[in-house]
Amino acid sequence: STSAAQQSLDTESQYIDAPMSAAAAFLVLVVKDDDISIETARSVLSSTDDLIKDIKVRANHGLFTCNVGISHRAWVPLTGKPAPRELAPFQEVKGATHTAVSTPGDLLYHIRAESRDLIVEFEKILLEAFGDSVTVIDDVAGFRYFNGRDLLEFVDGTANPDGLSLPAATIVGEEDPAYAGGSYVVIQKYLHNLPAWRGQTVETQEAIIGRTKFDNVELPDASTGQKSHKTRCTIQDAEGEHDILRDNMPFAVPGLGEYGTYFIGYSRHLWVIQKMLERMFLGDPPPLHDRILDFSKAVTGVTFFAPARAFLSDLGS
Ligand code: HEM
Repeated sequence: STSAAQQSLDTESQYIDAPMSAAAAFLVLVVKDDDISIETARSVLSSTDDLIKDIKVRANHGLFTCNVGISHRAWVPLTGKPAPRELAPFQEVKGATHTAVSTPGDLLYHIRAESRDLIVEFEKILLEAFGDSVTVIDDVAGFRYFNGRDLLEFVDGTANPDGLSLPAATIVGEEDPAYAGGSYVVIQKYLHNLPAWRGQTVETQEAIIGRTKFDNVELPDASTGQKSHKTRCTIQDAEGEHDILRDNMPFAVPGLGEYGTYFIGYSRHLWVIQKMLERMFLGDPPPLHDRILDFSKAVTGVTFFAPARAFLSDLGS
C-alpha cells in the first residue's frame, strides 16, 4: 500500500552498511550556540543528501558515502524534537588503570570513498556551507591497511554482522518508532604505542586480541582470569548475542610517530557499546582491563545518533 511504501521511505537509513573503503574521514564539529549558527547548521544538515549527490555525480557514481550523526547536546536545538530514547552524552568510563575519556562534538561526518580526493572535495564544500557556524574539533583521515588490518597488524572487523543480521544489530526499530531507521554511533580515537606493542611476542599479542595474527582464526574463550578483547566484547544475554557494526580505520602520521585506530561503532542499542567499554576499561571482571589498552590510549570519546535520511532532509522544511 501507499502508506507502507511511505513508511519505508521515512525510515530509510543512512549508509550504515557501506562496505570497507580504501579511504575514510571522521570529521567532528561543534555547533556554535547563537541562533544564526544553529539555523545555518540545520540548513546544511537538511541538504546532506544533495551534497552527497553532487560529489557522486562528479565521481561517476563511484563509492562515496557519508553518514551524519548528531549529539545529545545539539539534538533539541538543531532538530526541535525530543532526543532518541537512549541518546546521552558519552559517559566517561574510568577504570583503575585506563580511562575512556568523554570529549566535545555535536556533529559527526563519517565519510567513505575509494580515493581521498572525493573526501577532501566533499569536506571543502561542506565546511564552506557551514561557514563560521561550527568549530572543527577533529578531522582524521583513515586508510585501509593491507587486507583490512589495524596498525596492531590484526585483521579488524571480522566478527561484524552482515546480511540480515546487519540491520537487526544496527538499526532502531519499533522500540522507538519516531526514530526507526536511525542508529547510535560511538567514536573513539586511539593512539598506539607501537614500539611497546612490537616488543610483545606474537603469542602474547594473539592472546590479547583473541585471534591468530596471520590467518585470523579465533582462539578459545578464557572463562576465568585475563580475557581477550574478542571475548570481553561478546555481549550475550537471554535474547542471544548483541552485535555492533565496527568500521574502524587506521590513521597515521609516521613522521610524527603517530599511529592510531579510529574506533567507530554503530548500534541499534547504545547500551551494548557502553557495556563493551565497561568490560574493556573497568575490567571483566574488574580490575582485569583489556590489555589492548596498555598499548592504545583513547584520546576522544563522543556519542551521536545518525537518524533516518528523511529525518535529516525534513529539517529544512
Ligand atoms: C574485535 C581491534 C576497540 C568492539 C576486534 C578484533 C580486533 C579488534 C583486531 C578481532 C577481529 C574482529 O572481529 O574484528 C580493536 C582495536 C581497538 C578496538 C585495535 C582500539 C584500539 C574496540 C572498542 C570496542 C570494540 C572500543 C567496543 C566498544 C569489538 C567487538 C569485536 C571486536 C564487538 C568482535 C567480538 C566478537 O568476536 O564477537 N577488535 N578494537 N573494539 N572489537 Fe575491537
